[in-house]
Amino acid sequence: MINFNDLIHVTKKKIFEKQLFSDDDGFRFATPWPVAEYRAKRLKCSILADISCGIGGQTIYFAKECEVVYAVEINPVKLEIARKNCQLFGLDNVKFICGDALSKNVIDQIPEVDIVFSDPARPATEEERNISKLIPDIAGVLRAYSQKTEDFAFEVPPQLPPHRIPFDCEMEYLSLNGELNRLNLYFGNLKSCIVSALALPGQIKICKKNGDDEKATMNYTNKAGTYLYEPDPAIIKAELLPEFLKNLTSKADIFHIDHKRLMLTSNHNIKHSMIKNSYRVVHCMRFIPQEINKELKKRGYGTVLLRAEIAPSMYWNIRNKLEKNLKGEKKAILFKKGELAYICENIS
Ligand SMILES: C[S@@+](CC[C@H](N)C(=O)[O-])C[C@H]1O[C@@H](n2cnc3c(N)ncnc32)[C@H](O)[C@@H]1O
Repeated sequence: MINFNDLIHVTKKKIFEKQLFSDDDGFRFATPWPVAEYRAKRLKCSILADISCGIGGQTIYFAKECEVVYAVEINPVKLEIARKNCQLFGLDNVKFICGDALSKNVIDQIPEVDIVFSDPARPATEEERNISKLIPDIAGVLRAYSQKTEDFAFEVPPQLPPHRIPFDCEMEYLSLNGELNRLNLYFGNLKSCIVSALALPGQIKICKKNGDDEKATMNYTNKAGTYLYEPDPAIIKAELLPEFLKNLTSKADIFHIDHKRLMLTSNHNIKHSMIKNSYRVVHCMRFIPQEINKELKKRGYGTVLLRAEIAPSMYWNIRNKLEKNLKGEKKAILFKKGELAYICENIS
């Protein structure tokens, strides 16, 4: 018997709608509620099997949308916690099964279902994420449950780029509050395009369908226009910049700041929910910290947020020179592209 008084109450309100019960690590892998709710609405059906349910972060939302949910978990403690968490939400339409989702014993307990979902466990340490290392493995699940349904959905590590997903499925890169959060794979009738990028909470989506022009034009520039834009990371990870540019009301070009920062630039003030940050370029000059400091003083800045590829050992040295004796009220964002500095203001 589990003593629930010994269990951690998850308190991160932003991530979970209510406090959930968890063991030591369950809450780290549990799905944030805006993602769980979105996924459950997309996968709404009569009977769904969540075959690696953990502490039930996702199961709860499936149970809100579906008539019956089968929740499978190999770890008996986690399964009992998932049961308790479903009770917290007043849900009584979940059938809990303890065991290995790929074992005959478990598979035999699951009837024909509309959808099989799995958010598999990942190896604790891995130099580079590898889709074949997930537990239970995707190919194994597709084989083991092929008699139950043809419609599958999986969550896999969002670090994987599209070319490293070796399946015929929709790859949905999802961001939450401007940060890359999840990669969902949809199989069978659930597949609605090849690759998509979706930003939560707004649910704005960019898709690439079969037959879309592979070579949509993208212009690259080394010269910043009046504005710089930071696209949502889901668009970049999904490699959907050409489709995104087609969606914008005004022309924008690609402006590579450095290896880590890919931005757009335009002379137009563009609004789009999948632009994470927008900046007005105030001034461009050579990247000489003492000179930039003079310019910042002249323009009434008090702080500088440095967005540049700089060796960690040099960061504070440069930052201190940039901010020396600044007394103004305004905040500058400073980008470094090669030898040039762009003093900007955030206008998001
Ligand atoms: C990433 S967690 C799932 C988190 C869950 N989606 C949530 O939102 O709370 C993956 C879970 O898969 C379970 N698991 C791993 N291998 C399994 C297997 N062969 N059968 C069933 N569950 C398994 C692990 O114990 C772990 O709890």
